[in-house]
Amino acid sequence: MAHDLVIVANRLPVDRVTDKDGEVSWRPSPGGLVTAIEPVMRAGDGVWIGWPGGTEQHLEPFEADGLHLVPLSMTQEEIEEHYEGFSNATLWPLYHDVVAKPEFHREWWDRYVKVNRRFAEKAAELAAESATVWVHDYQLQLVPQMLRELRPDLRIGFYLHIPFPPAELFAQLPWRRQILEGLLGADLVGFQLPGAAQNFVRLVRQRVGHRTHRDLVYLPDGREVRAAAFPISIDAAGFEELARSPEVAERAKAIREALGNPRKIFLGIDRLDYTKGIYARLRAFGELIRDEHLSVEDAVFVQVAVPSREQVEQYRILRDDIDRLVGRLNGDLGRIGRPAISYLHSSYPREEMAALYRAADIMVVTPYRDGMNLVAKEYVACRIEEDGALVLSEFAGAADELRQAWLVNPYDINGMKAALLESYRAQPKELGRRMRAMRKQISQHDVKAWADSFMTELAHERHD
Ligand code: G6P
Repeated sequence: MAHDLVIVANRLPVDRVTDKDGEVSWRPSPGGLVTAIEPVMRAGDGVWIGWPGGTEQHLEPFEADGLHLVPLSMTQEEIEEHYEGFSNATLWPLYHDVVAKPEFHREWWDRYVKVNRRFAEKAAELAAESATVWVHDYQLQLVPQMLRELRPDLRIGFYLHIPFPPAELFAQLPWRRQILEGLLGADLVGFQLPGAAQNFVRLVRQRVGHRTHRDLVYLPDGREVRAAAFPISIDAAGFEELARSPEVAERAKAIREALGNPRKIFLGIDRLDYTKGIYARLRAFGELIRDEHLSVEDAVFVQVAVPSREQVEQYRILRDDIDRLVGRLNGDLGRIGRPAISYLHSSYPREEMAALYRAADIMVVTPYRDGMNLVAKEYVACRIEEDGALVLSEFAGAADELRQAWLVNPYDINGMKAALLESYRAQPKELGRRMRAMRKQISQHDVKAWADSFMTELAHERHD
């Protein structure tokens, strides 16, 4: 069946998991991308092409929770070279300010090209005449051009969920020109922030040699490509409703009790990723206890680390580092029944996340670089009592909108300590003033507004 809207993303919104007895089930996929696109899909009657996790081959299209999903299988080699390799050990660190050193391997690149081609072919097969195809994220940057070659009738949008690096860093990539040309297959290329769109246009001018004016690129064949910012958001009303439910309120209370009803709870929730600044943030908190600015009787830091990309070496190293740090901090600073850090290496359903957000007095989000960071926005949406503090890295995209957070430089440990203490000591009046302003921003700019503005802009793009 042909579809008028095709979403192409590396992952499906659900992961296929096989348990010990061979029983198959589906569970929600990790990460911000899926959280953001799911409501968009629900609104329309589109189809979603993506990898269902694992190596199972020949899976049939299926419906999950009312969504039309088309699984694209990956072989073990494809996972190793396209997903773990080029996507997550080359592009991911390169696009995040080289927080870790990107690896460049020609075999990984070759596989990246092949997998992108498979996605493009599948999209070409499923799209109706003149349909709209929306391609997502860094794993699939060649799809727009490949798809345009196969199906010039389509309207193609691309959205990058992660940062787009400054030209000086992007220039390291041996395949920089191919990536830029891949993206130029789209009619509209969307980024989180205006600076990223500007980086892209500048690179296109420098490295591909096309004429550009402001946010437009003029291709030799007369086509125009627009590059613009569309800061992504969350289903604010949905989170708020969840936070208001009696079950979540009950659970939040139970969490506080289980932690021994400390005066204040600090909270971090992140995929276990080296861009998130988990290590530095826990050190900052540990020093505040060591130096007796805080005590374990009064404060606890709950850190949820969602397992992620566990086969990639940098992620394994990070996990060991955090394990060691948490062990050391608790060993040195904890008392019986009173750890300094309550550390959970696990993923949780939305209800539990909402309860954690409601239970926490201070949300700590300190990435070294982050496209947006939806956790920061989810926390704000769940603070229905208009209290609670957000400590937020100025290097997260969300810092552009959440100006009333305690903004910090995650490389500056003393600065982070000062912000943690200040937010801990802040008076209810000040917390209310800040939280109200942030809640207004989030409720007015939710994920529906994000998708609508991207789709409206895409519909207006000239086609030839
Ligand atoms: C980020 C990326 C997504 C990715 C998600 C989870 O949000 O922008 O593209 O899907 O992380 O990572 P994973 O590697 O598990 O798909």
